[in-house]
Amino acid sequence: MTFSRIAGTGGYLPERVMTNEEFESLVETSDEWIRERTGIKRRHVAAEDETTSDMALAAARRAIDAAGVTTSDVDLIVLATTTPDKVFPSSACLVQRQLDIHDCPAFDVHAACSGFIYALDIADRFIRTGGAACALVIGAETYSRIIDWNDRGTCVLFGDGAGAIVLQASDEPGIYSAHSHADGQFAELLHVPQGISTGYDVVRAEAAFIQMKGNEVFRKAVGTLGAIARETIAGNGIEKKDINWLVPHQANLRIIKAAAKKLELPMERVVVTVDEHANTSSASIPLALDVAVRDGRIKRGELLLFEAFGAGFTWGSALVRY
Ligand code: UT7
Repeated sequence: MTFSRIAGTGGYLPERVMTNEEFESLVETSDEWIRERTGIKRRHVAAEDETTSDMALAAARRAIDAAGVTTSDVDLIVLATTTPDKVFPSSACLVQRQLDIHDCPAFDVHAACSGFIYALDIADRFIRTGGAACALVIGAETYSRIIDWNDRGTCVLFGDGAGAIVLQASDEPGIYSAHSHADGQFAELLHVPQGISTGYDVVRAEAAFIQMKGNEVFRKAVGTLGAIARETIAGNGIEKKDINWLVPHQANLRIIKAAAKKLELPMERVVVTVDEHANTSSASIPLALDVAVRDGRIKRGELLLFEAFGAGFTWGSALVRY
């Protein structure tokens, strides 16, 4: 039987760091409010000419190096993003070109903050069914382009960045299970109203930016993440105490703490990057994973739980032996 396993991780953050204090001159807010309500201290913001595929490429190269493979080994590229460089081709194809890889499937996955879980789920299925043996799975976002810098309810929450893994075929798991879910009835609670088929409209400029009913999203996120964790634990016949590390989507420290409490995990066993990165949507889990692998916290053989919740609503989880 074939499984998939994480062979290497990589991350990339833009050079420019934006502190909470900088928002105090843009909107009516304070460093204290942002820290207390979200846990965020700073975030990285892409340069004007820096795109999602640029950041994805940098993270992918680092993951390839860490995995000890070469670009010629890669036979699948799945890139999770809601902020692609272009309408088409996909940002995955742009990364493929830069890596000088030809012929393998390359496509984007659009599932907002749950995008990386969806991409992992898809790549794992490719590998388990023999359709690929060495996949690049990337989450990359440039949310600074879809932020309304006048809306204090959303502008302080997001950051830019990319994270990547190399997922390889293996005789041993690897990925025990991945779970992807959605319920479109909540579409308007967190959305960017403007799109391609609805038409561009310069008069409704705010429609090009993130709009969120933060409180309602918060409540739904906490409940749903609890349920998905239970589903993952029960589905694999393990117990909460077997989990070595929770690597959650990084939207809000209060949401992360609530998830950890339900899992009876001390915060020392939770990878937190929201303070430094803010919410990087589909990049947040692979970025957090890369940070904790590189600083030596996450070690080979340990059991990891990934979980995410985002616009759609979408949500998902994965149980992973690193
Ligand atoms: O990643 C995808 C999923 N996204 C999420 O999971 C985000 C979920 N939501 C959240 O993280 C939180 O709801 C927020 C951080 C967005 C907001 O925190 P909250 O504790 O839910 O605050 P709230 O929306 O209930 O607002 C409380 C007050 C309001 O003022 P009034 O009406 O009580 O006078 C807001 O206007 O805080 C005000 N407020 C702010 N004040 C200072 C909202 N944003 C700010 C701000 N600075 N940046």
